[in-house]
Amino acid sequence: MKNEYAISHWPDSKEIMEKLRVLANELPMYQIRRDRMNEYLEKYDKKFAKSKALAEKAKRKIPGGVQHNLAFNYPFPIAIAKAEGAYLYDIEGNEFIDFLQAGGPTVLGSNYKPVKEKLIEIIEECGPVTGLFHEYELKLAELVSSHIPSVELFRSLASGTESCMAAIRAARSFTDKKFIIKVGGAYHGWSDQMVFAMRIPGLGSFDSHGIPEGCYTYMQEFPPNDIDALKKLLDENEAKGGTAAVIVEPLGPESGTRPVHFDFNAKVRELCTKHNTLLIFDEVVTAFRVGLSGAQGFFNVKPDLTVFGKCIAGGYPAAGGVGGRKEIMETFTAGIQGLKKRAMVGGTLSANPLSCAAGYYAIKAIEETNAHMKAGNAGDRLTRGLQEIFKRYDLPFVAFNHGSICHMETGAAMLMELSNPKIFDQVGKRRKVMEELGAALTVEGIITLAGSRIYTSMADTNDVIDKALEGFDRVFKYFEQVKEN
Ligand SMILES: Cc1ncc(COP(=O)(O)O)c(C=O)c1O
Repeated sequence: MKNEYAISHWPDSKEIMEKLRVLANELPMYQIRRDRMNEYLEKYDKKFAKSKALAEKAKRKIPGGVQHNLAFNYPFPIAIAKAEGAYLYDIEGNEFIDFLQAGGPTVLGSNYKPVKEKLIEIIEECGPVTGLFHEYELKLAELVSSHIPSVELFRSLASGTESCMAAIRAARSFTDKKFIIKVGGAYHGWSDQMVFAMRIPGLGSFDSHGIPEGCYTYMQEFPPNDIDALKKLLDENEAKGGTAAVIVEPLGPESGTRPVHFDFNAKVRELCTKHNTLLIFDEVVTAFRVGLSGAQGFFNVKPDLTVFGKCIAGGYPAAGGVGGRKEIMETFTAGIQGLKKRAMVGGTLSANPLSCAAGYYAIKAIEETNAHMKAGNAGDRLTRGLQEIFKRYDLPFVAFNHGSICHMETGAAMLMELSNPKIFDQVGKRRKVMEELGAALTVEGIITLAGSRIYTSMADTNDVIDKALEGFDRVFKYFEQVKEN
């Protein structure tokens, strides 16, 4: 099958980074005009009254009243009852265009019927889990390997978080080296070590509550796109036992929020090879969304290990896995292995038949429908539309996309630089502005990821995108500069 990639063009990452730097650090904030925002909040209260009642009750039993990090949930979370194609419906039947896409796994659109029907058959036959080998484990491993040549062996796990954790463990076990280097600001799940330097480059252990410093002894970060800084770390580590692995999100940290220069991954590969250090691609978001052979196919760079999540279970639960070079992957071999080098992994629900079959049928369906390409076209159309809106209303906001992964930076709270003296005062304010945008968009029937990221799917036809753009237009029309900052 011909490899096609959903990324129709590679936006100039230097230009984007400069625009983002200016937006977050030099320009005043913009917010929705106060009278208009108050109208939105009143409407929110009325339109979603049943969600509000449920959210109030949830506060009594669930910490903070909500268990999902990806939506802003301001002023209160919306209770969703139904998901289908491009749309979500709340408990009162309100319809929303779904640009959250559960954080990325549903390239086919929500609740895709042909996959669901296959899974119902499997549940009927063996239920969701047995703890024993099932043929779909093999079918999924073969399918992943057929699309992604670097995956000689594949092991299913239950989340992206534990798969990243497993990958660095395998890297250390295989290489007998200790240091792991990541890009500052990248998200590789929430395991102890990976929380290091999360979200904002340079943060190191600053935001890692509940994790002892010692945990980070062998964790290092380098600034996005700074190949010289990576080279320096790798060189310095040589005298200290060496670097086990460099782990990167191939589009750039936070799914390309700070996009890589096009040749970044190839340069990292070169440095890793030189230092006998493993290269780990975290393709939790990108695999089967950017293309069937992942971001590594798009960049034509071969990692030693690849981390999977999200699409690997087609939007169904227990989505994770690691694949890669045979001799490294063999450290994951199950059962008692005597003194052989090992990387212990496990999980009651890992590799269950339901998740494996879900991944298998979803990837097959992506193959058959070219879903990633359709989702990518939708992302292009939406991004173009957003750029036009920002121009129309003379707003300094930045929209760019890599296929179906779209970024829409307005308050740009997470893009403030640590060296910016205003950061402590402004991060909260900028976040508030973004929360308000999230609430206004929700009233307009649009759900995004934290008001700044948008995932599109095959279900996002031109009509859906155009309808969404009308909603975005109604909100952005009323943005104005905040006077007193
Ligand atoms: C790049 C990346 N790696 C790892 C993870 C963690 O995956 P999970 O949420 O399945 O634990 C995520 C989740 O969003 C991610 O975006």
